[in-house]
Amino acid sequence: MEIVELKKGIYWVGAIDWNIRDFHGYSTTTGTTYNAYLILDEKNVLVDTVKAPFYLEMLGRISEIIDPSKIDIIISNHVEMDHSSSLSPIIERIGNPVVVTSERGKAGLGKHYRDPMNFKVVKTGESLSIGQRNLSFVEAPMLHWPDSMFTYIPEDRVLLPNDAFGQHFASCQRFEDEVGDEVMRHAAKYFANILWPLAPLILKKIDEVAKMGIPIDIIGPSHGLIWRKNPGRIIQAYVDWSQGKANRKALVIYDTMWGSTEALAKGILKGLIEEGVEAKLLHLRSNHRSDIIEEMLEAKGVLLGSPTLNNGMFPTMGDFLTYMKGLRPKGKIFGLFGSYGWGGGALKEMKKSLEQEKFDLWEQELTAQYIPDPEEIKGAIQFGKEFAKKIETNSTNDSK
Ligand code: FEO
Repeated sequence: MEIVELKKGIYWVGAIDWNIRDFHGYSTTTGTTYNAYLILDEKNVLVDTVKAPFYLEMLGRISEIIDPSKIDIIISNHVEMDHSSSLSPIIERIGNPVVVTSERGKAGLGKHYRDPMNFKVVKTGESLSIGQRNLSFVEAPMLHWPDSMFTYIPEDRVLLPNDAFGQHFASCQRFEDEVGDEVMRHAAKYFANILWPLAPLILKKIDEVAKMGIPIDIIGPSHGLIWRKNPGRIIQAYVDWSQGKANRKALVIYDTMWGSTEALAKGILKGLIEEGVEAKLLHLRSNHRSDIIEEMLEAKGVLLGSPTLNNGMFPTMGDFLTYMKGLRPKGKIFGLFGSYGWGGGALKEMKKSLEQEKFDLWEQELTAQYIPDPEEIKGAIQFGKEFAKKIETNSTNDSK
């Protein structure tokens, strides 16, 4: 196996999950990685582990560098099983290492794994001497679970923040500068689908870390590529995404039964494009919900279209709204459109769903009965043009 060294004595010893395509509802089109790190010092430290089926892959990587029984300390930055489910076998393999974690980490690990562990609980600002290095810790509750924390190695300027700054991306490369701009697309999708609801906490945590004045050469997240060329780039992107900075971009997200809602969607798209908006048409059965959410991250406006089925919205729209509401994408303006046969009901149900979560709703709506005629298509184009003006003046978001 190729040995990957971040800095002298600090190694990546994680695993690559090439074939996972669904990560609890998120489409992982290239797979992902579970990143664990080994620090060699007077006391040897393993930072996080990997998902259980990949335990032997991690063990193999560690064994290329040292005898695993020489590990003295394991740091568990996060309880979720993609990072902790190899803890029990590695503890059994190496003896009785100290397991360093947050207070909530101790409680969470105790509920997941019944085996007794030799815990050492740490808090923000505490440090741990391992010889030449003094590891320090920053609790980061809700990034991604209440137990989450960051480990920082000041002597090497390396930050290991677990889920923060990660990407679900599998490749032969381990560092972002080996891949190029593609990494940002994966980082954006990861942020939008996992961390977006936590945006206010992310801003606070980035501010807190900035005030600590800790220099950072390398960010080693727990998924995907390691940021070593320009770690400031991903930090700035997190600030922008958390602040809801958006482009002059609008999405037309819809489903259709007999083509009527689609005809309206295409008319709206035409109107948006004619007004110079970067617009995208996204059919709910052709695009995975997690890809649509990624597109939404930098869009100012979102138009949602559904036909009426059994007096309500189409099931795919219900699925999408349920997923979207949980991610709380604030700072967007939403508009509604759709077709119906007789009674209608889709827009009413969609509106209720969005109002419950206090999304910013455009007062105009567009509907057509049965099949839209040429005048109604002209109306759809105009609707798109009006929405383009609306997103221009909407004050809930900023533009880059
Ligand atoms: Fe990658 Fe929250 O676990």
